[in-house]
Amino acid sequence: MTVRVPAKVNLALCVGPLRDDGFHELSTVFHAVSLYDDVVVEPAERLSVGVVGEGADDVPLDDRNLAVQAVRAVAALTGREPAVRLTIRKGIPVAGGMAGGSADAAGALVAVDALWDTGLDRETMLGLAAGLGSDVPFALQGGTALGAGRGEQLSPVLGRGTYHWVFALADGGLSTPAVYAALDAMRAEQPQPEANLDGVLAALRSGDPVALGRTLCNDLQPAALRLRPQLGRVLEAGREVGAVGAVVSGSGPTVAFLTRSADDGVHVAAALAGMDVCRGIRRADGPVAGARIVVDEPVEAAPAGPRR
Ligand code: C5P
Repeated sequence: MTVRVPAKVNLALCVGPLRDDGFHELSTVFHAVSLYDDVVVEPAERLSVGVVGEGADDVPLDDRNLAVQAVRAVAALTGREPAVRLTIRKGIPVAGGMAGGSADAAGALVAVDALWDTGLDRETMLGLAAGLGSDVPFALQGGTALGAGRGEQLSPVLGRGTYHWVFALADGGLSTPAVYAALDAMRAEQPQPEANLDGVLAALRSGDPVALGRTLCNDLQPAALRLRPQLGRVLEAGREVGAVGAVVSGSGPTVAFLTRSADDGVHVAAALAGMDVCRGIRRADGPVAGARIVVDEPVEAAPAGPRR
């Protein structure tokens, strides 16, 4: 059973106060883009996980792995043994602010539900997802959605159009809790500018990439920049080569550039690659669907030979 799950970028990320449970109250606009992890599950004697692809060495293989936690959660709920082999193929940057770990958790939930034929309903799946991490419900759902609470409470966003993105990957990840903590420290020193969702919501209704590019916003960006000052140059470089919007993705350090069209995306990606400001470049489109089972392409029947 193979499930494909998209990365996310936050088109707007407004971080409210720190709550008693250690999370910040958020209002955000999530947007799923076509960079994917594949999560494969197979029956096995006992639970184990393997990770392949870029950054695989940085993904934990023990109970810290969110996909492992997802398998255990479904097993506990349904009274089964969590006896599967998980294989994760990484296409989403690891620790990049694009919710790769959350995607793997969402993929594992869908995959074991299908493998074990447990038939969990949507509410149950979303509840399990929220227990695993703030971004996991969105990885199940995909598309473009408003997130409230700590990010796990989703509601639909009216929008039109397909957007063409270029992502600049950084060397080394950033720890999400460290970026939130840096923001709290900066706010304690002096008031910080606050992101606002309204411009993004209006731009999504219009379907205009230039309007969306102008309104992208992220309260975590100044904190990510404090921890990784080089990102300032990356943001600037994308704007110089024609991106209509530039923003740090989630807690970073990946930087997202919005482009006017698919052709412009090719141009911006090539120009950025020539500037030597980042480790790698990926192009992607959004919005795309959330976690879904990949049905193997049917093997084409061999052409029938001539009848005699
Ligand atoms: O929910 P998730 O495991 O992705 O969160 C990782 C960390 O990010 C949390 O432990 C917390 O430090 C921070 N976080 C936060 N407020 C949120 C979401 C995440 O402070 N709404």
